[in-house]
Amino acid sequence: KLTLDFTQPGANVSPMLYGLMTEEINHSYDGGLYAELIRNRIFKDNKTKPEGWSLVQQDTASRASIKLIAADPDNVPFDERRHSINSALTTCLRLTVAKGGSRVGVANEGYWGIPVKPSTTYKASFYMKGTGSMQFPRRPGMPARPQNATPAPVIENNTAGPITVTIESNDGKTVYATGTITLEKSTFWKKYEVTLTTAANVEPTTDARFVISTDRTGLYYFNLVSLFPPTYNNRPNGNRIDLTQMMVDMKPKFLRFPGGNFLEGPDFANAFPWKTTLGPIDNRPGHKGSWGYRPTDGMGLYEFLMWCEEIGAEPVLGVYAGYSLNGDHVDAGPLLKPYVEDALDEIEYVTGDKSTYWGAKRAADGHPEPFKLTYVEIGNEDWFDRTNSYDGRFKQFREAIEKKYPQLTCISTITDTQNPDLKVTGKKPDVMDEHYYRNSWEMFANASQYDKYDRKSSKVFVGEWATREGAPTTNLHAALGDAAWMTGMERNSDLIIMSCYAPLFVNVNTATSTAPKAWQWDSDLIGYNALTAFGSPSYYVQKAFGEYLGNKIVPATAINIPTQNPPLSKRDSINGTKPAPVPVIFYSATQDDKTGMIYLKVVNASGKIQPVEINLKGLAKVDKKATIVVIKGAKPEDTNTISEPKKIVPATFAIKGIGTTFSQKLAPYSVNILQLKIQ
Ligand code: AHR
Repeated sequence: KLTLDFTQPGANVSPMLYGLMTEEINHSYDGGLYAELIRNRIFKDNKTKPEGWSLVQQDTASRASIKLIAADPDNVPFDERRHSINSALTTCLRLTVAKGGSRVGVANEGYWGIPVKPSTTYKASFYMKGTGSMQFPRRPGMPARPQNATPAPVIENNTAGPITVTIESNDGKTVYATGTITLEKSTFWKKYEVTLTTAANVEPTTDARFVISTDRTGLYYFNLVSLFPPTYNNRPNGNRIDLTQMMVDMKPKFLRFPGGNFLEGPDFANAFPWKTTLGPIDNRPGHKGSWGYRPTDGMGLYEFLMWCEEIGAEPVLGVYAGYSLNGDHVDAGPLLKPYVEDALDEIEYVTGDKSTYWGAKRAADGHPEPFKLTYVEIGNEDWFDRTNSYDGRFKQFREAIEKKYPQLTCISTITDTQNPDLKVTGKKPDVMDEHYYRNSWEMFANASQYDKYDRKSSKVFVGEWATREGAPTTNLHAALGDAAWMTGMERNSDLIIMSCYAPLFVNVNTATSTAPKAWQWDSDLIGYNALTAFGSPSYYVQKAFGEYLGNKIVPATAINIPTQNPPLSKRDSINGTKPAPVPVIFYSATQDDKTGMIYLKVVNASGKIQPVEINLKGLAKVDKKATIVVIKGAKPEDTNTISEPKKIVPATFAIKGIGTTFSQKLAPYSVNILQLKIQ
């Protein structure tokens, strides 16, 4: 029996309650949201060979090879030096065609395939040059060729002329789109651009590659090879349309970026390098990421901000706080000062007007208007540093930020409840970021945890959380755990001012003979391959919770809630509780005081139908008709996949006979959102 008490004033629902969290993990950007299709476009992501690249030789009569040429004066043979374009583009790919044939070229496999769609125009661009010898022409003042250098083979230079660019099947038999550039007779780099359009009747596929080819001898050099399909809002260097639309549909209030571990980086040198992520992609070297592959940084600080704008979300900016994943930290004091200055510069880039140094840079990058910013998070999960260096680091960052930007609120990553042994001393943080990765049973057991929090404590940002069941995306049981947990956050949203699920994205490709498995973290919200995307059951729960939300909490209580026993294997891991039964029903109610709509969310985590009696105490009259949105499935393991993307999706039903007391049967394993209207 559930009572919604309209005789008591409810607290306000936080206007920023539901948002998104993102970082470069699981190929979230490269091979994900960032629409670039070429893998390893600047040839720096290499283990033993140019990752993602291969030689194309149409007939056996030709003689050809490919080789990476990296700017390393100590290790590169004399003849292979001086191929850098700038300090970012220092490694290139050389195609040597000693004997031409019908077609010789270089192929890129994309991020687990190049997506081919009908009637689609792709923009290709690349730096290229062609020579007939490995020896670069000698310029006045250039050092003489060393006596002992191996003589450079001279190959006839036939490079000038047409170069073919194709999107084609991996066996080379079907060409989906083709274009041509004319390579100049010049030994210097030039950037070429060409568009490729597919026919209306092509079947969508990921079994495709991108090829640049010739039929002539010579040495061909390539760098920054790029291929973009249409992007959201047609923004250059922009985002995938389908994934952006899925976020827009969630109506998120904020986006927490750039991490997560991606903010901290594996070491000091590879913390998120926001300054080298700005400007033309030609100036972005990328860096060593935190999740085992090298991000291009095509998704740079400017692109994060444009992403926020495109989905209507406010940035929640994480600034690097001098602590990295290898455990190194910079102590508070003079050594930390440059890091604090760097964060102040970053905030100026986001919020400064055109009269400021960094505000002017942002304007030059294409966005004259400052972005709205309320929250800055200092670091990420600094409680991993058991020396508690965060106490001093947080203070130093916070004082400098609040002095220059008094309108900003700094978020602490050490929290009273999760890290009681590690305190942020001095002025109490306004907001603390708590992270929870749990299984469904732990979520059920802890769904009321915030009912008990001290209201005098700092406000809480649940900046990362997920029910971790199912891989790579979560299943229905996880979605039930999420929904149970979210009712607890929503009921307490006077305290929980923001929440975001993590990770947001996963490229679901498994390993192939040439590419590794795409993801590093199980249990993610939105899955995709190069061609299509799908929401997990958790995605639909997130979306529905954000969509159906009032601005006031309606105090609610329940009696006679049935319970169930967690399976034996899960009982030990249930946080803070002895192996004990957990409730099967979870609920929260909010009201929109402008429209009179009541949103009652009720979760049935059991495999049985649960009848609920609902009493709207203090209301004289409600509309007799209402609707109910139901997310449910037959089995807790049910899930969505690329091949079955819509197995678990919300369905909306009309319900009749509503009064100030009524009963509603809840389907097994279901999340239910009743929409009632006060009259
Ligand atoms: O969400 C995955 C990782 O979990 C984040 O990078 C990190 O902050 C947390 O430990």
